[in-house]
Amino acid sequence: MRLEKIVCEQFRRLSRVAMEPAPGINVLFGGNAQGKTSLLEAVLYAATARSHRALSDRELVQHGAEGFYVSITAAGAAGRVTVDARWWQNQKRFRINGAVPDRLSDLLGRVHVVLFAPDDLELIKGAASARRRFLDICLSRVHGGYLRALQAYRQVLRQRNALLKRPQPDSTLLESFDVMLAEYGATIAWERNGWIARLDTAASALYRQLTDGRETLQIRYAPDIRDTGQYLDMLKRSRENDLKSGATCRGPHRDDMRFQVDGQALEMFGSQGQQKSAALALRLAEANLTREESGEEPVLLLDEIFSDLDEQRTELVLEILPQSAQALVTTARPVGSLPARLRNARLFHVINGDIITHG
Ligand SMILES: Nc1ncnc2c1ncn2[C@@H]1O[C@H](COP(=O)(O)OP(=O)(O)OP(=O)(O)O)[C@@H](O)[C@H]1O
Ligand SMILES: [Mg+2]
Repeated sequence: MRLEKIVCEQFRRLSRVAMEPAPGINVLFGGNAQGKTSLLEAVLYAATARSHRALSDRELVQHGAEGFYVSITAAGAAGRVTVDARWWQNQKRFRINGAVPDRLSDLLGRVHVVLFAPDDLELIKGAASARRRFLDICLSRVHGGYLRALQAYRQVLRQRNALLKRPQPDSTLLESFDVMLAEYGATIAWERNGWIARLDTAASALYRQLTDGRETLQIRYAPDIRDTGQYLDMLKRSRENDLKSGATCRGPHRDDMRFQVDGQALEMFGSQGQQKSAALALRLAEANLTREESGEEPVLLLDEIFSDLDEQRTELVLEILPQSAQALVTTARPVGSLPARLRNARLFHVINGDIITHG
């Protein structure tokens, strides 16, 4: 899949820009706070209807403006698609090839992108909730059944927690919630288990290349429950506790994922560069799996992938990017200091909210 055109108006730092990325690598360079991340964020927003760093869409509107507009045109196996996203008076309006989609979810799977952001270090170092969110987003995108199980699970969990807080909870009702929770919960755990095994295979191969074969990354699922029967059992045993605390203490909403490099916990013992490398390997593994699932090579949006990496790893990152993938790569470094492969790529200078094609 390849982006052919990007247009942004009054989106964050970007006033009015239009760019035509080339196939392969595109470098967006420029000083801090000039609008590089804003551009990647705009593409992500048009492709997925969400931003990776805004709490609400209103934040994306350029200060002083009343709305924003983003349009991306991409070519893939299914032909060419143009997505227009407009935010105006507290409402987002999308068009796919000029037509208003019935549901926003129709957008999913039209333009495949994978973003790596500096905040992705949180996937390694941060709370378990960041890792569960990562899993939920990846899996919901590829398996409709996962999203349905997750939504059903969350609803039953809310109902069960509300019941637990009542003075005299009805035990028959509680038992029926337990049965549903165990069923949906087991589906979630089963799907996560399979996905993490695939992520582990892909990410550890990438990490090995990134470290020139010197280090080994392992990703392991740390599930809170195993299967329906065992979860049901666990809910029974922890009922007393749940009633006391007024919340469901066990279940996939407590799951985690663990990263190890050469057998050591990465969040505890890993260096900054090792953590960055692992987060990058994880995102590129996500891109591999997206391609396996959809048959489309996702467009890579790579925000500051080189910071914290030494010269050798910087070169190796460029080698592990899939040859056929299009990538938009941002950097605050001067062009002259970049590896030759980047200096020879299509260059865009991002300056003061504007984008100038370079050379
Ligand atoms: N809604 C908005 N309207 C106008 N300006 C904004 C808005 N949101 C953020 N900004 C400004 O945009 C700038 C950040 O833009 P962006 O994150 O795209 O920069 P960048 O080029 O990626 O910089 P860096 O190299 O530091 O990552 C900040 O100066 C911020 O004040
Ligand atoms: Mg930035």
